Amino acid sequence: MKKELKVSAIENGTVIDHIPAHAALKVAQLLDLQNHVDLFSIASNLQSKSQGKKAIIKISGKYLTGDEANKIAIIAPDVTVNIIKNFEVTEKKKVELPKLLLKTVKCSNPNCITNHEAVTTKFHLAEKEPLRLKCHYCEHVFGTKDIELV
Ligand code: CTP
Ligand code: ZN
Repeated sequence: MKKELKVSAIENGTVIDHIPAHAALKVAQLLDLQNHVDLFSIASNLQSKSQGKKAIIKISGKYLTGDEANKIAIIAPDVTVNIIKNFEVTEKKKVELPKLLLKTVKCSNPNCITNHEAVTTKFHLAEKEPLRLKCHYCEHVFGTKDIELV
């Protein structure tokens, strides 16, 4: 049986590939796709030889910057970010955990000032594997299971 593309190719934009299926919606939330005006699509539970089930997100009309792409690593460290221009992949990059993370997540310390006043959250990368973030304001350190997106 002929294999068909499940989601059409895009002309200009960004394709995030090799997302673990369970992380697809979180990545969409992190990238604030609900406010993206152009076409975007999320395909999940795609069969992947190397990964089990994977997801792909295609965003038309937006080229993710390096900083935007690197934020994805806090949720899905093994994604590939493809920049598409005129239907061609012009850039393919792996993401890297940012040393400094602005906004994006909440501090898991309920007493932290960032949870009570209009302060932009800011975290330092405390440990890569397993991932641990340290709040710039209260120095609270927390791991993946307590990471909550803003
Ligand atoms: N893609 C797309 N629109 C294009 C070109 C590519 O949506 N105009 C998508 C492809 O469907 C694929 C991703 O962008 O999901 C990367 O494309 P490509 O590098 O051609 O695929 P692979 O070689 O399979 O990528 P990798 O080696 O990273 O797995
Ligand atoms: Zn804090």
